[in-house]
Amino acid sequence: MAKKRLLVLTGGGDCPGLNAVIRAIVKRSEQENDWEVLGSIEAYNGVLREPMELMLLDNKAVAGIHVKGGTIIKTTNKGGPLAWPIKKANGEIETVDRTDELIRKLQLQNFDAVISIGGDGSQKISQILYEKGLNIIGVPKTIDNDLSATDFTFGFETAVDIATDAVDKLVSTAESHNRVIILEVMGRNAGWIALNAAIAGGAEICLIPEIPYDIELVKEKLHERIIGGRGFAIIVIAEGAIPVGGDVIGQKSDDISYQNIRLGGAGIRLMNELKDSGYDQDMRVTILGHLQRGGIPNAFDRILATQFGVRAFEMVLEKKFGQMVSYRHPDIVSVSIKEAISKYNVIRKDSSLVKTARGIGVCLGNK
Ligand code: F6P
Repeated sequence: MAKKRLLVLTGGGDCPGLNAVIRAIVKRSEQENDWEVLGSIEAYNGVLREPMELMLLDNKAVAGIHVKGGTIIKTTNKGGPLAWPIKKANGEIETVDRTDELIRKLQLQNFDAVISIGGDGSQKISQILYEKGLNIIGVPKTIDNDLSATDFTFGFETAVDIATDAVDKLVSTAESHNRVIILEVMGRNAGWIALNAAIAGGAEICLIPEIPYDIELVKEKLHERIIGGRGFAIIVIAEGAIPVGGDVIGQKSDDISYQNIRLGGAGIRLMNELKDSGYDQDMRVTILGHLQRGGIPNAFDRILATQFGVRAFEMVLEKKFGQMVSYRHPDIVSVSIKEAISKYNVIRKDSSLVKTARGIGVCLGNK
């Protein structure tokens, strides 16, 4: 008898743990004996391209990949079935909706189900495809931890480890030179990476998108710290942080079909604001960038990703389509994708994390 067919894809920015999910899906599916798992190369592009680019995912293909960063089936955060770029006769690029064609192609290839591993942009696509009749299950991923329907997304803890390691390293050089060092970290419009790394690393100041900062209060904290005897200070700033009355700093990307504003520059803006307001301590800025997304997933992320993968496959067996796996400590549960994408997970100003930071004297740029 012909085997049932499952398509797996990774979409959006990569993050540590994607391979561990893929491996868990395949290992669990092999226990059923009647499933064949294929990966679509570079999110849905593998299906939409002619010829199709699909990869057989069996035990051999996934052996040992749980420790590897990135994704063996590649990913993209541009284009996709909703906004596929095509070149017009006059050379201009326009984007077209290829969702109906995608579903038809999957039917022709006899796929019974799809597991889409991706962040909020990818799960928005999952919901549209589900409403058009596709049997789809979502698996949430992002280093930003900004999906509200799950306690944590995998990749986040590894990013926090990397950012904390950066703070630790910057402390020794800042201390040697009596400098203020500003570390800019990722996270888009959520300050999870910044605040966690600031607490873990012992930074004096942490500026996050959820709390617009007052430059005078930042300066006051620096004076207190420097004149108070330590002579150096570490500021962790999220890429989406904003001064009171200001806006996020970033650039519209020239890349075709890249939907997001490319955030970056918050650290340099902060240093310039400090200089412009007369602050004259020696200052440097480090932008951690994509180092936060690369490399080996830590144990927590490997375990969470593995749990997500096993559960996602079991949800395929249970036909829980239109649902996403979610971590609600200590359980792995399922939530509707629609609910999962309805709201962002940002840091509450009255949360324990914020209170903890204030409780150890971290300045968050407000009173
Ligand atoms: O969403 C994950 C993330 O790493 C953000 O923290 C960051 O703003 C963005 O992706 C960077 O995207 P790109 O890989 O396109 O530069």
